[in-house]
Amino acid sequence: MLVTLEGIDGSGKSSLHAALRELLADLDPVFTREPGATWVGDSVRRAIAEQIDPVTEATLFVADHAAHLATVVRPALAEGRLVISDRYSDSRFAYQSVTLQGIIPEPEKWLRAMHNGWSVVPYRTFLCVLPVDEALLRLKPDAQREHFEKRETLEKVQNNYLSYARNEPTRFVIVDAMLPQETVAKFVADAIRQDLKSGKKKRKK
Ligand code: TYD
Repeated sequence: MLVTLEGIDGSGKSSLHAALRELLADLDPVFTREPGATWVGDSVRRAIAEQIDPVTEATLFVADHAAHLATVVRPALAEGRLVISDRYSDSRFAYQSVTLQGIIPEPEKWLRAMHNGWSVVPYRTFLCVLPVDEALLRLKPDAQREHFEKRETLEKVQNNYLSYARNEPTRFVIVDAMLPQETVAKFVADAIRQDLKSGKKKRKK
């Protein structure tokens, strides 16, 4: 079963990922991430740092996703493992829809078309939501921010995420990232256990 964690920078999803390692250790999940689960991720990091042109950056994120699927996600799912990814395709739809605005006509459609039909859709996606001001407070000082981490960008990215959650209310679970970290982690860990139980029941039928 594939579970993904999504949210804007500063939403605490990476700490959540780390907390789940402990809380779900007995299930022996595969913990992974985008970008960067394979060497293709190094070129993505370089593209982000050098602020290369947005189409190059977007297609590198997709290349990283393809390598991630081929080398980590699909093999683990084939073995029946639980896979928990810190960011996944919704990050592309939410962020690159913003960075490609005015560059590509209908960026979200273009991005989705690059995934549809071959990518693995997550069974469940936990979306960490909090006021953008709070997320900015949790991030590094202004000077060192990646270009995604600007207020206007994060506002738009979070609105994109929220619209996806409205469109796919079964897959998405909105998590209140203002709650204490332990509360959030326990809630998500319990929800994943519940999903595994009901998933097994469905397969038996
Ligand atoms: P990440 O390493 O997850 O940063 P953080 O740990 O700070 O959340 O991701 C780096 C940046 O890349 C982050 O600002 C989100 C962005 N990103 C995209 O724009 N598109 C994508 O498809 C992915 C996976 C990440």
